[in-house]
Amino acid sequence: MSPPAGRAVLDGGRAAWAEAARPGYERSAVGPRMACYRPLGGGEEQTFAQAVAAGLGRGRGGEKSLSPRFFYDDRGSELFERICELPEYYLTRLEAGLLERAAPEIAEIAGPGARLVELGSGSSCKTRLILDALARARGGIEYVPIDVSDTLARSCACLLDDYPGLRVTGVIDTYQGGLEFAGDAGGGARTLIAFLGSSIGNLDGGAARDLLRRVRRAMRGGGDAFLAGMDLVKDRGILERAYDDSRGVTAQFNLNVLRRINRELGGEFDPAKFAHVAAFNESERRVEMRLRSLEDQAVAVRGLGITVELSRGETIHTESSHKYDLPQIRGMMAGAGLSVRRVWSDPRGHYALVLCSAAP
Ligand code: AVJ
Repeated sequence: MSPPAGRAVLDGGRAAWAEAARPGYERSAVGPRMACYRPLGGGEEQTFAQAVAAGLGRGRGGEKSLSPRFFYDDRGSELFERICELPEYYLTRLEAGLLERAAPEIAEIAGPGARLVELGSGSSCKTRLILDALARARGGIEYVPIDVSDTLARSCACLLDDYPGLRVTGVIDTYQGGLEFAGDAGGGARTLIAFLGSSIGNLDGGAARDLLRRVRRAMRGGGDAFLAGMDLVKDRGILERAYDDSRGVTAQFNLNVLRRINRELGGEFDPAKFAHVAAFNESERRVEMRLRSLEDQAVAVRGLGITVELSRGETIHTESSHKYDLPQIRGMMAGAGLSVRRVWSDPRGHYALVLCSAAP
């Protein structure tokens, strides 16, 4: 059996820190209270180059596509932060308000000495709302952010200054890998797994179901909980404006993936020859983002030795953001062995914060 990694051993309410190696992972100490783990051999994820070759190389037949996970290079992450501040992008603000309301109750459920596992941590602003509440509940806190981006160490380092009782065990891996890591490494601490920002919305039905099952598998004792932020189905106009804002920030965010191909793979895309398109697909209940070619064009990607041919009006699918309703959410959770214990929502019912436990 593999030894548990960086486990907080509770002794008399104070967490002592037991560091351990973890087979298959390379460990780097970032400081006395923070360590990062990344899978040896870089994991099995498709690289950007492979994804571009597969998604844009496609000829007649399927629509060309790129996964939304490639939006987030440095420039893309910066643009996403700006999206979160847009008046039209209500998701982040509503979620922050709900978290503030819910935090005391969440902290009470998690209890002192709890461990917070966060999927796709990104910038840690919303994490702070939970950490504040956990810190008030006293006892050491272990924070386990899971993110494929290696900016993880950077964005967590500042948390250490603000939370003296905090230990950070960063896992630079996919959600799947990270959840297995966290499930094995838990020790006796109560665990709250958080998946915020409606990031689950990027996953299609099957992938969302698979992820929720993995979340359930990473939960052990009956005290463990899962907290998800999920965007709800609403008026088409509100949804489409959130993904096609008047300042064009979301358009730049979408077009940045072409610039990224230019920067990293020697592409010759001219972003001016593409239009940003965001439309709510009502039957699939998701906002779909695309880049539409404004003319017939053949674009070389020198690093890949390919030429991407696009006809005028042809589209590249870049993202789907699923929207839910509460019965559907309960059904999804139940299908993964989770039961919804508490839902916080805004008065208009635009967004939901959902707390689940393992179904009995
Ligand atoms: C980070 C995936 C939740 O789908 O709303 C924002 C990303 N895309 N504007 C979302 C995004 C366009 C965002 N998620």
